Amino acid sequence: MGAASRQTYTARLPPGQFHCLLDELPLHLIPRRVFDLQHRRHDLSQPLFLNPQCRVLSAGQVPAELESHRELLEGFSLQGTVAWVRDPATGSLHPFWLGSRMQAAVACLRPGKPAPASLPHELRYLLAEAGILTPAEHGERYLAERSEIVSTRVRVFREKGYLPLGNLIHPFNLAALRRYYRYAIRRGAIRLGDEQSSRRYVAHNEKVARFFHHQIANAVSAIAGEAVKPSYVYLASYLSGAELKKHTDRQQCEFSVTLCLDFSPEPELATSWPIRLDTSEGTVTVYQALGDGLVYRGTRVPHFRDVLGAGNTSTSIFFHYVSSDFSGPLD
Ligand SMILES: [Fe+2]
Repeated sequence: MGAASRQTYTARLPPGQFHCLLDELPLHLIPRRVFDLQHRRHDLSQPLFLNPQCRVLSAGQVPAELESHRELLEGFSLQGTVAWVRDPATGSLHPFWLGSRMQAAVACLRPGKPAPASLPHELRYLLAEAGILTPAEHGERYLAERSEIVSTRVRVFREKGYLPLGNLIHPFNLAALRRYYRYAIRRGAIRLGDEQSSRRYVAHNEKVARFFHHQIANAVSAIAGEAVKPSYVYLASYLSGAELKKHTDRQQCEFSVTLCLDFSPEPELATSWPIRLDTSEGTVTVYQALGDGLVYRGTRVPHFRDVLGAGNTSTSIFFHYVSSDFSGPLD
């Protein structure tokens, strides 16, 4: 991943389109907390295998489940080779672009055979973190752990009307999203101000956000305890002085997820701008770190934030869902 390869490969991808190039990740944009945890989590000395849930597709090809939803990929740079890793529990797809070095490494992998010992440590680490390489029987273990966690969460969400929710978007994809939206705001592609605040850049149903909106729908269904469908997604990047007055949301926001995407200055852990919820147990203050999600009943639970401090900016994505039988307008 030297300077020469960085210049060569990234230059081929249009900067205004989304990509998450595994060879040249914006490492500084991966939340520090996640990065530190993951460094400790993986035992790279054990045999690793090509994940059966991973599809490596060449330019222009898309996974079968997206073939009839190509509009969700309009903001993607699909020129390159992309490894699509499917979460076995939720079906959500994590896309990772492969540059020349990663393509060569992945080309050596054979289904059911361990990755060769000659695979450099750095590539092995990145492929394992992306989920392209997994330990044996990883899928089964993951599903068993997850089903236990989910049943507890459904109960808590039903009782309280809100629930913090992590791991909705892969940390590498999150870093790529931070870069994508920073660039979009810098080049004037995202407008400043809406009826709720003049101090935030906003985008309604922005095409890349729309992809992730659909990907996390099953995870939200699992927490809601019922089938949901995506209504609309809203990106908001707040400037200092912005305030979110107490409100409930419209009917398209029956189940809402607020994802903490970006903040400056870069927080060590949680940001200094919590969201507050008025619940039956009083006002609850939820601090979020980068990458954290919070699912709440937007139409029932009043929510607000205080004034964003001087020198701070904060970017969130609001993913909204309705019951699958909702028949009103979705946007
Ligand atoms: Fe809201």
